[in-house]
Amino acid sequence: MNIKKVVVIGSGTMGSGIAAHLCNANVPVTLLDLKTEISEQARDKIFKSKPPLLLDKSKVNNIKVGNIVDNFSEVSEADWVVEAVVERIDIKHDIYQKIFKTRKHGAIVSSNTSSIPIKILSQNLSEEEKKDFCITHFFNPVRYMGLLEIVKSENNDLDKIEDLKKFCEVELGKGAIICNDTPGFLGNRVGVYAMQIAMTEAFNMKLSVEEADAIFGRPMGIPKTGIFGLYDLIGIDLMADVLKSFIKELPKSDKFHVVAQEIPLVKKLIDTGYTGRKGKGGFYRINKSEDGKVLEALNLKTGKYSPSKKIDIKSDKVDLKTLIARQDKYGEYAWTVISKIIKYASSLVPSITKEFNDIDEAMRLGFNWAKGPFEMLEEIGVKFFFNKIDEFKGNEFLENLSKTKNENFYGERQKYTEIETLGKIKKKAISLDGNNSAQIYRFNDYNIVEFTTKANALDYDSMDALKKATDKPLIIINESMQFSAGVNLTYTMNFADKGDFKSIEKFIRYFQETCKTLKYSRFPVISAPSGLTLGGGFEVLVQSNFVASHTNIVIGLVETIVGLIPAGGGCKEMLARWLNTDEAKKDPNFAPLKVFNIIGYGKTATSPIEAVPLKYLMPEDKKIMNRNSLLDVSKEILNKNRDFKAPDELVFKLPGESVREEMYKILDKLYNDKVILDHGMEVARELAFVLSGGDTSVDKTITEDQLFQLELNSFMKLIETKKTQQRIKHTLATGKPLVN
Ligand code: NAI
Repeated sequence: MNIKKVVVIGSGTMGSGIAAHLCNANVPVTLLDLKTEISEQARDKIFKSKPPLLLDKSKVNNIKVGNIVDNFSEVSEADWVVEAVVERIDIKHDIYQKIFKTRKHGAIVSSNTSSIPIKILSQNLSEEEKKDFCITHFFNPVRYMGLLEIVKSENNDLDKIEDLKKFCEVELGKGAIICNDTPGFLGNRVGVYAMQIAMTEAFNMKLSVEEADAIFGRPMGIPKTGIFGLYDLIGIDLMADVLKSFIKELPKSDKFHVVAQEIPLVKKLIDTGYTGRKGKGGFYRINKSEDGKVLEALNLKTGKYSPSKKIDIKSDKVDLKTLIARQDKYGEYAWTVISKIIKYASSLVPSITKEFNDIDEAMRLGFNWAKGPFEMLEEIGVKFFFNKIDEFKGNEFLENLSKTKNENFYGERQKYTEIETLGKIKKKAISLDGNNSAQIYRFNDYNIVEFTTKANALDYDSMDALKKATDKPLIIINESMQFSAGVNLTYTMNFADKGDFKSIEKFIRYFQETCKTLKYSRFPVISAPSGLTLGGGFEVLVQSNFVASHTNIVIGLVETIVGLIPAGGGCKEMLARWLNTDEAKKDPNFAPLKVFNIIGYGKTATSPIEAVPLKYLMPEDKKIMNRNSLLDVSKEILNKNRDFKAPDELVFKLPGESVREEMYKILDKLYNDKVILDHGMEVARELAFVLSGGDTSVDKTITEDQLFQLELNSFMKLIETKKTQQRIKHTLATGKPLVN
C-alpha cells in the first residue's frame, strides 16, 4: 500500500488537525465538509492556530477544500479516506455508504471515533469492505500529540494495517499503537479512569482543588494542569458525555463504574454554564476585580470561589517512593490514586491488551505522563506495592506478579515500535553516571546526556554532566517534553537575592567553558532537541557539532524578554552564522544588525522550517517527524563521522562603534515610538555593545573568548539591575513576561 493522497471528511477540530498534519508530511490532502464554507473556515483556523498546527504556514493552500456533494469524486483518487465527522452513528453510517461506493478498490477507510466500537461502525459493510476498514484515533492537537491508536477488527487485512501503521510512524511521526476493539481503546480507558479516580478521591479526602492538582501533577510525572485544571481544559460537559459513553459500553462488573458516578457539584457546574475554560469558568476561573484579573478556585464543599492558593509540597522531582511515603494527606492521596490506577490498568491485562507496556506508552503519548502505571509500579517496587495493597482478587496480572514478586518484571519498553528509541536503549547502558540535574548513560563507543530538571532548566550540574561526557562521542537527548527551557532562573535568582553575584559569574563562565568544550572537543557532539529549546538550551545546541531536530520545537534566544542577553555563546554563534553569508561579505554591518534584530526581539521559531531563515537551525541540520527516531538519526550521524575532527576556532571581524551608532538610531526611534522603555533601552544597548564587537573595528580580529567576555560583562551588568531582577521574578511567578 502506498499512500499518495488522502481525503479527510469532516473539518472540525480533529479533521482539520489531521489534514494539517498530512500537509506537514507533504501528503496531498483534501478536506471535505457539508459545505465548502465550513472547510474553508477550517483552513483559515488552521492558518491562525496557536500553537500552530502547521510546520510551514505558507503551505496552507496545499490543503484542498470542498464539500461532500460537489467534490466527493476526490474520494475516488484517495489511497486513504479518514472520516472525522460528528460522533453520530447514523451520520457515520451514511458517509461510509457513500465512501465505499466511490473509493478506489483497496483504499483504506478509517474513522476517528473516540467511542463507537468498530463492530457497530462497520455493521453495514460487506466482508470485503470490512477488510479495509479500521479506526485511526488521533489525539488533539494532532501535530503535537504523539499517540495514534489504530483499532483493528478480526476482519482486517493485517498486512494493510501494518502498512498504515508504518506510514503513520514514518511520515506522520506518530507513536502508532495497534489496539483491539474495546471501549476507549487503551489511552482513554486508563486515562479517563485515572482522571476520575483522582477527582473522586479528592472529594472523598476533602482535598482542595489546588491541593489535588499539586499532587496529581508534576510530582507524579503528570502535566501540571493536574486533574481539575485538565477537566477545565477538556470541558466539564464533554467529560460528562465521555463518562456516559463508558457507562453504556462497559460491563457492570468493570471498576470504571465506581468512579463514573455523577457528582452533584459537577452537574451543577454544567447546568449553570461553568463548563471549564470555554465556559464561564470551571474548577478554576479568572475573576476580574478592581485589582485586575484574579485566578480563583472552586471550594469543593461550598461550591464558592475564592482566590487560588499556591500549594508548595516542597518537592520538585518526580519521586513516587518519597511521595507515597509522606505521612500526611498528600502522601495518602498519592498512594490511593496511584495504587488504584495500577490496579485498574493491570486488571485490563490480558483482556484488552497482551502488552501491558502498550498501556504505559499510550499514557505517555496520549496524556503526556512521564511514566505509565506499570512503570510506576516498577518504580515504587513490587514488594513494597504488595505489602501495602489490600486486595486484588481476580486481577490475573497482579495475582501472577504477587507469586514471583519479580522486581524486574518490566522488560523492554516501547514494544509497539521497531525503532531503537532512547527509552529502549537507556536500559542497555554499560554504566551510569550523573548528578541532580542530568544523567549520563555510557555505552562502548558513545555517551548520552539526558537532562532531568523541571523543563530541563540548566544549572552548574547540567554543565558538569555535559563536560564529563565529552570523553566519547556525545548525544544530548531526552525523553521529557522539553529539550531545555534555558538557564535555571530560580537557581540564578537565589544567588542574586543574597547579593552573591560572584557565584552567578562563576556559573556563566562555567557555562561558556562547557559549551566551548562541546564545540571543540576531540569527539563529535550531537544535540537532538524536541519541545522548548530556548536561551541556554539553544546555546548548548548551537555549540554542538551536529543537530537532529524533532519537527515539534520552539527554538530561540529569548533572554532579552527577562532583561538579559545571551551569555553562553548565543550572541557569538549567531554572529558567526550571519557573518558567513554573502550579504555580510559585502556589508560589515549586515550580520550584527540582523542578529541585533533577532535577539533584540527575542524571536522564536515554532518549527525547523521557521528556524532556518533565522539561522537558529541550518539547512544541513536533520529535521525529523518521529521523535522516537531522534536517537537513531543521531547514531547515524556518529557513524558517518568516525573520522571527525574538531573545527578550528573562529575569529571575528566586527565594526565596533560604527554599527553601534546604527543600532542606537534604531533604538532611539523605538524609544520615541514608546515601543521600548527605559529598561528596554538599557538591555538593548548592552546587546548592541556585544554584537558590535565592543571596542573594535573591521580591520581588527577578535576571538571567541573575547566575545564570551563581552557577553559575560553585559550579562553581569544587567543581572545586577533591580529592574532585570524584577522581570525575572515576575516571569518565574507567572510564567509570563513583565510588560513595560
Ligand atoms: P467537530 O464537531 O469539531 O467537527 C465535526 C465536523 O463534521 C463539523 O465540521 C461538521 O460540519 C462535520 N460534519 C457533520 N456531518 C457531516 C457530514 N455528513 N459530512 C461531512 N461533514 C460533516 O468534531 P471533532 O471534535 O472534530 O470530532 C470528530 C470525530 O473525532 C468524532 O468522531 C469524535 O468522537 C472524534 N474525536 C474527537 C476528539 C476531540 O478531542 N475533539 C479526539 C479524538 C477523536
